[in-house]
This record gives sequence, C-alpha cells and structure tokens, in this order.
Amino acid sequence: MDNDLHLLGNPTVYCCLVAIVWAGADRSREVPSLDAHNSEGTSFVDAPLPDYADAPRPWKRSKQRDKTRQWIASLGASILLLIIVLSPPIPQSLNSQLPTPNSMTKIADLRKNYTQAGLLESDVVANPFEQFKLWFEQAVAADILEPNAMTLATVTAEGKPSARVVLLKAVDDRGFVFYTNYNSQKGVELQNCPYAALVFLWGDLERQVRIEGRVELVSESEATEYFHSRPASSQLGAWASEQSAIIHDRFVLEQRLQQLETEYQNREIPKPPYWGGVRVIPQEIEFWQGRPSRLHDRLRYQLVAGKWQIDRLAP
Ligand SMILES: Cc1cc2nc3c(=O)[nH]c(=O)nc-3n(C[C@H](O)[C@H](O)[C@H](O)COP(=O)(O)O)c2cc1C
Repeated sequence: MDNDLHLLGNPTVYCCLVAIVWAGADRSREVPSLDAHNSEGTSFVDAPLPDYADAPRPWKRSKQRDKTRQWIASLGASILLLIIVLSPPIPQSLNSQLPTPNSMTKIADLRKNYTQAGLLESDVVANPFEQFKLWFEQAVAADILEPNAMTLATVTAEGKPSARVVLLKAVDDRGFVFYTNYNSQKGVELQNCPYAALVFLWGDLERQVRIEGRVELVSESEATEYFHSRPASSQLGAWASEQSAIIHDRFVLEQRLQQLETEYQNREIPKPPYWGGVRVIPQEIEFWQGRPSRLHDRLRYQLVAGKWQIDRLAP
C-alpha cells in the first residue's frame, strides 16, 4: 500500500503518462499524410501538393501506426484518469493549517476581565496537597490542554535563572514529581542549586498555582517503574536524545532512534542511568484565582515549624 501511495504521489509518473498521451495524440506538428491528398472530398483534395510531395516519404504515417498511437494515447489517458481518481488528498503541512497571523495585534490592548469564581479562606482545605488535587481534578474536568504541564524555574550556581515547561507525573504529601535527563541544563542547574519553582496556568479556569521548594531525586526503583510504564518509543527517546546538547541536525536524532529500535527489538529497554525523577518538596504553595478589576484572590500556604499556615496576599 505504501508503494502504491508512493507511485500515486510521484510527479515523474504523471509526467511520463502525460508525455505518452501527448506523443500518441498530438499530430498537429507533423506533415499531413499524402493519403489525405489523394482522398476525394476532403479539404486537402484541392490544396496544392506540398513541395515535399515527391520527396522520399520515410515520415509518412501508416494507418497501422496511427491506430497504435491512438491506442497508446487512450491507454495513457485511462491510467492517468485512474490515478487521479484513486489519489488520496495531498496532506496539508501543519504550518499551512495554522491561522493567519494578524500583524495589527496591539499586545498592550490584550486584556481579560476575570469573572468566573472567587477564592475565600472558607473555600480551601487545610492541606495544600489536597487543595492542589481538588483544583487539578477541576482542570482535568474542564478539559484543559495538558493540565499537568507546568513551568519549572531553576537557577545556576551564580543565581542566573532559566525556565521551561515539564509535565507533572506524580503528586502526594512528599511533593511534585517530574522526569527528565539529569545531564540536561535543568538537571545540571538543580545539582548545583537544589531549589526550584513550579507554575501551573489553567487559563480557562482563570487560575494559577505557584510552588517553591527544595528538590530531591526520586528513588531509582520509583524512576525505573515509571520508565517502564512509558511507551517504548518514549523509552528509546530518552536514550536517543542527549538533552540540551548541541546537535548537527534532526537526522542525527532520527538515525540514532533507528539504531536503537533495531538494537532493542524484542528486548526490554533499560532505564538510562542519567534519566529519572525530580521531586519538588514545597515550602510554599500559592493558589491564585482571577477576579474582576484586577482584585484577584491569592491564598498562600507556607510551611512554618512543620505546619501549613495560610495567608492572603495582595494581588
Ligand atoms: C508541554 C511540554 C511538556 C514537556 N515535558 C517535559 C518533561 O516532562 N521533561 C523534560 O525533561 N522536558 C519536557 N519538555 C521539554 C522542556 O520544556 C525542555 O525543552 C527540555 O527539558 C530541555 O530543557 P533544559 O535544556 O532547560 O534542561 C516539555 C515541553 C513541553 C512544551
């Protein structure tokens, strides 16, 4: 089937077929057959014979050859028609499906009034992990795109910050877990400065959650168990990509993945030693709910002497 599609989408095939049809059908450039001159009642009868009438006639068509040409032309046309009818629609590239950008957008004028809900002290529970789970489940129920996507901020040993999005993979009273390559930029930064900040934005619910705290590595057994729960393609991806390193081109990655696919065909894929989980153990968790007139609600949980204290912060 793949080969068929390859053939159908191949412009060379179309060109050859058009050439066949054209060669078989187009006779306008050729000298008229002398047979036409000789047949009475045609417009050629009265026309003067061309100069080349007495010339040797290697170019003269035989009726048999004309028939063969017509036959080839019809066959070519039929195959062409068949291919056009059977061809699948040409898939559009992702870029051509994106909306047309509006070059007139005035960024400063983009604003939204938040009106969906409020967040009072009486609305929240004493344990911030439970409060987080409640909001998380509401985000899932609201069908938010990737509700577990969170921005992770780290800093270098010199205090230079960097941020990127990662996926939350577990949460319990110990903290918030994501998985990554320990040799990546974030991995190295966390080794040098084991503190991180996380931010969830659930825009459709007009909510934000901020988490700050110290980090620790997830145990090898927990990381291995999670690694093997992932699809094989993701497991191989962890081996194929030297995350955050400069690579020559995309082909390097695809070639490496292909080698790994062959290497691990019918074999269990081990967890790379440099890949695993990071747990952010919160010292603070803030729940933010958008309100009208920029008077948003902010409730911050802070761990003070082993107990969670809740404070309201000005928006
Ligand atoms: C929606 C989304 C989810 C992502 N999830 C992860 C993740 O769970 N782990 C990870 O290492 N990178 C994840 N990435 C890629 C990171 O944003 C980042 O590009 C990568 O980790 C390299 O970051 P670094 O060079 O700062 O270490 C995700 C990116 C997006 C957009």
